[in-house]
Amino acid sequence: MKAFAYGTLSSTLLLSLVEAKKIFIDNDGLSPTQLLFPLAAGHEVVGLSASFGSCSLVDCVGVASAIVEDYNLSSCIPFHIGAQQPLLRTYDTFQLWEDLFGELVWQGGWTPGYEDTYTWDNITNVDDIPGAIALINAVKEYKDTDPITIYMAGLGTTVAQALSIYPQLVNETAGLYIMGGYIDTQMAAATAKDSIVIDINTDINLIQDPEAAQMVLTAGWKELYIGGNVTNYLVPSQALYNEFIERAGGFDVIEDTPYLSWVLSLLGTGNYSENNDQQTLPFWDDVVSAYMSWPEMILESSEVSVAVDTAFYSPFYGNLRVWNSSWAPPSGIKVGAAKIIDKVDNDFFFGKLLDTYYQNWTQYCEVGGPVELIL
Ligand SMILES: *[C@@H]1O[C@H](CO)[C@@H](O)[C@H](O)[C@H]1NC(C)=O
Ligand SMILES: *[C@@H]1O[C@H](CO)[C@@H](O)[C@H](O)[C@H]1NC(C)=O
Ligand SMILES: *[C@@H]1O[C@H](CO)[C@@H](O)[C@H](O)[C@H]1NC(C)=O
Ligand SMILES: *[C@@H]1O[C@H](CO)[C@@H](O)[C@H](O)[C@H]1NC(C)=O
Ligand SMILES: *[C@@H]1O[C@H](CO)[C@@H](O)[C@H](O)[C@H]1NC(C)=O
Ligand SMILES: *[C@@H]1O[C@H](CO)[C@@H](O)[C@H](O)[C@H]1NC(C)=O
Ligand SMILES: *[C@@H]1O[C@H](CO)[C@@H](O)[C@H](O)[C@H]1NC(C)=O
Repeated sequence: MKAFAYGTLSSTLLLSLVEAKKIFIDNDGLSPTQLLFPLAAGHEVVGLSASFGSCSLVDCVGVASAIVEDYNLSSCIPFHIGAQQPLLRTYDTFQLWEDLFGELVWQGGWTPGYEDTYTWDNITNVDDIPGAIALINAVKEYKDTDPITIYMAGLGTTVAQALSIYPQLVNETAGLYIMGGYIDTQMAAATAKDSIVIDINTDINLIQDPEAAQMVLTAGWKELYIGGNVTNYLVPSQALYNEFIERAGGFDVIEDTPYLSWVLSLLGTGNYSENNDQQTLPFWDDVVSAYMSWPEMILESSEVSVAVDTAFYSPFYGNLRVWNSSWAPPSGIKVGAAKIIDKVDNDFFFGKLLDTYYQNWTQYCEVGGPVELIL
């Protein structure tokens, strides 16, 4: 893959003949590499939508919009507003459920007193078509030639909306990759010394919209990849920061180069021990995007049947239940077949993280790949 590190149009095209995917991204927010990894691997992003979840709608859309603008990708990656609220769950039922079954560390866009960072005035690059419709359109456009892959790293709402309108979508796509679906994390959370450990062992993507998650995970995909626990094992560190700093040729270079502003926000002060909780979070969604883009980094996985608890009066409302498929409910509640990713090549991931951030993506729409970043 080294030859593609500084991809040119011809190498991208060559790769595309072999294994290129067409990908639709929906997330509650975004980070640059979630979008850039597929491009770096020679895939095509046919649509992007930002939906409510870990942030208010305007913030989730705002951060994605800023990334699309900063990397100059708006002319070739259609950007949409996805689901604006969960299917059934509301702020009030979310708070009531917490009263019944225990407070969540992370409440995302439903954090009491949440204050927006972005305003709609700042967001100028969204397409009028809602995310779910754009997704359906993309599925229909490529179903006969090159069925798309869906990457869903936030709540299931947008994909659930699309499935409700157009159920045959599952048979007209190559598959679905999701972030969320932790298993066996109770004890880790219960014995955590720090609330951040409780946070990272809480399945917030599923919990904020359990009904959507259940609809999506059991819809009958050709392939369903779940990135739960494994994504928690790839975390930032001082060693990683040092590699970023060394490649740039000094922390001051990162600070002084506007193009590297997203690297700067990843590194904070460059001193890991000065991080806040947000800067120590695992590379959750990015890990899923990475193994979707480069499947060779998947080392171990398990085939299981899955469903999401949708009983409101349950401490597991919005949690994933997994079964050996021979022992899954034969009728009754609907289950889906899934591949849980158990182990990935961590070094491969960190290598791609550095490589991808240190390429210049601003010409992508024109030349079909990154150009060399000159610092
Ligand atoms: C939004 O735009 C205003 C006015 O241009 C600016 O002051 C503010 O910093 C922007 N906010 C963000 C989050 O970009
Ligand atoms: C998908 O195709 C399978 C096999 O033909 C069929 O059984 C199933 O009903 C289809 N699903 C939908 C939602 O159309
Ligand atoms: C999931 O994560 C928890 C907490 O780290 C761990 O105790 C458990 O063994 C993991 N389970 C699987 C199946 O990976
Ligand atoms: C990193 O931050 C810690 C805590 O503020 C401080 O004690 C340490 O000296 C800093 N290290 C460097 C290399 O600046
Ligand atoms: C499921 O359970 C059966 C025994 O009931 C066993 O033979 C099979 O290997 C199990 N499947 C998996 C994937 O572990
Ligand atoms: C942004 O992308 C367009 C192609 O869509 C290109 O013409 C333009 O030069 C790029 N701008 C920058 C600043 O790289
Ligand atoms: C990215 O590439 C374009 C086109 O070569 C160039 O104009 C721009 O200065 C580059 N940006 C950086 C940060 O290297």
